Amino acid sequence: MRTHYCGLVDEALIGQTVTLCGWVDVARNLGGLCFVDLRDHEGIVQIVAEPSDAEGNAEVLATAAHLHYEDCLRVTGVVRARHAINDRIRTGKVEVVATRIEVLNKAEPLPFHAHENPGEDIRLKYRYLDLRRPEMQRMMRTRIRLVQALRRWLDARGFQDIETPILTKATPEGARDFLVPARMHPGEFYALPQSPQLFKQILMMAGFDRYYQIARCFRDEALRADRQLEFTQLDMEFAWVSERDVQDTVEAMIRDVFREVIGVELADPFPRMTYAEAMRRFGSDKPDLRIVLELTDIAELVKGCEFKVFADWANAADGRVVALRAPGGAQFSRKQIDDYAAYAARFGAKGLAWMKVEDAAKGREGISSPIAKFLDDATLDAILRATHANTGDAIFFGAASYKVASDFMGALRLKLGKDLGLVEDGWKPLWVTDFPMFEWDEEAGRFVALHHPFTAPAVDDIDDLRANAATAVSRGYDMVLNGNEIGGGSIRIHRSDMQSAVFDLLGIGREEAELKFGFLLEALRYGAPPHGGIAFGIDRIAALMAGTESIRDVIAFPKTTTAQCLMTGAPSPIPDEQLAEVHVQVRPKT
Ligand code: AMO
Ligand code: AMP
Repeated sequence: MRTHYCGLVDEALIGQTVTLCGWVDVARNLGGLCFVDLRDHEGIVQIVAEPSDAEGNAEVLATAAHLHYEDCLRVTGVVRARHAINDRIRTGKVEVVATRIEVLNKAEPLPFHAHENPGEDIRLKYRYLDLRRPEMQRMMRTRIRLVQALRRWLDARGFQDIETPILTKATPEGARDFLVPARMHPGEFYALPQSPQLFKQILMMAGFDRYYQIARCFRDEALRADRQLEFTQLDMEFAWVSERDVQDTVEAMIRDVFREVIGVELADPFPRMTYAEAMRRFGSDKPDLRIVLELTDIAELVKGCEFKVFADWANAADGRVVALRAPGGAQFSRKQIDDYAAYAARFGAKGLAWMKVEDAAKGREGISSPIAKFLDDATLDAILRATHANTGDAIFFGAASYKVASDFMGALRLKLGKDLGLVEDGWKPLWVTDFPMFEWDEEAGRFVALHHPFTAPAVDDIDDLRANAATAVSRGYDMVLNGNEIGGGSIRIHRSDMQSAVFDLLGIGREEAELKFGFLLEALRYGAPPHGGIAFGIDRIAALMAGTESIRDVIAFPKTTTAQCLMTGAPSPIPDEQLAEVHVQVRPKT
């Protein structure tokens, strides 16, 4: 249909006849002279319809005079140099004088125009129009180049791309399963994979050595800017490896693709930090190292103080009392401080004590704080020294269980960092290692796996693991970039007895384990090599590379935060006959 792309017409073509196809980006009718910006996926070129003695031009002009946004055209014309050069577009030095304009399809008046950015609901409903916008094209193409670069890298190094089932049995990754009724087995269901975890492990037992897959994963969990119900992993597994083998390989891969796709040079090697250190210094297992602020533990300083909340948590076995300096925070208004308290409350804070250091030289007199009266001079002084607070700063305080205090003070650290303009430019990758093996689930009254139940403990000895389960460390690791968890993995359990012991510690009884994971326990008994791997969140990496906050911007057809596809209307009710076929009856809403 065409000889060239609109966006690639350049000076080398001056004097030549070209045929282009595209959408009307803008049409201007100056009466007897029309300009049309014609857009295809490469960009825009200016088309001119002008009066001349040449035959047929009257028709061209008449057609051009009645064009609208997003009409589909095929245009033939002659390329010539442009008088008024437009530096903002690649084709700005040339224009195409039309000799023929065919309207291939008229567009009705649009719900929004390619130059606008209306609300996200409208964009998602008319996703095909949204995706035409140059900004969306740019972001989607960043994702495409990322996936191409990853595949090239892995293919060149002998990783084998193997597909695993979508209709399968539950693989626990901590979310709810999506279920698919099995027509041929009344009352039974397939589960969609939360990840290919068990299949990739079995592939290692099956002798494939190094596997990868760009795999779709399904998790029925609350959606956020960085979470979708279905998302894409670069899933990898290696046989005969220790954690450093896996980490060194994938770290080199991530460095190479960042260089190739967006020209960014990441640190070599990535810094490393244990989970314990990350929680202690940053209140997060995915610290954003672009923000220099750090938490300061002050439990030792306030154990005997008169502020009961502090003293109680400082003396509690799993308590934490932590301070965070906000540089320049003495300027905060009462309202701003209240807003920070409300923000911290969203992450579990029962209160947020604060202190403004108006004049550090004046001791108590130089401090304004609702809790200063509960603290003696020595304690006040020790807090200022521990937090390195100076005149003009504020200090926020959190007291709670270790987990809750870390969570809300970690969240506050990010918020203050952003609000105070303390986020450095650039890229801060990080390995977080030595995760706890288990987390105590208060509600369920049992341990849950912090990674997943197939992650190996650091100790080899089953009795040792049983005796010290609460403090056991796993062989799991996460890759973090600018405060985003972009990948997570572990060395796996490769012995059946250890796997059974871990199921047992997780409160998965022998019978349940046999029912759900019997195939795995059996496979582990027939010569399973030591193995491990990792999975990266492609959507998250693409969003970071494209410079957007939301992974929805790098997914062609994402769901809303209310788990709907506004374009197709999914999910939707199913007629009774169809439900009957799959032996499903819908319960009334409660
Ligand atoms: P994990 O659950 O940590 O590990 O997932 C790996 C990576 O996938 C991304 N991710 C998500 N991205 C978008 N939306 C979601 N809902 C979502 N959930 C996770 C994150 C995360 O780091 N089988 C293990 C991997 C392994 O052990 O090898 C797993 O799935 O970037
Ligand atoms: P109160 O005596 O409860 O009015 O609290 C005095 C100050 O301590 C207020 O600024 C509260 O926000 C703060 N506060 C209360 N509970 C906590 C807590 N668990 N952690 C940090 N600050 C708290």
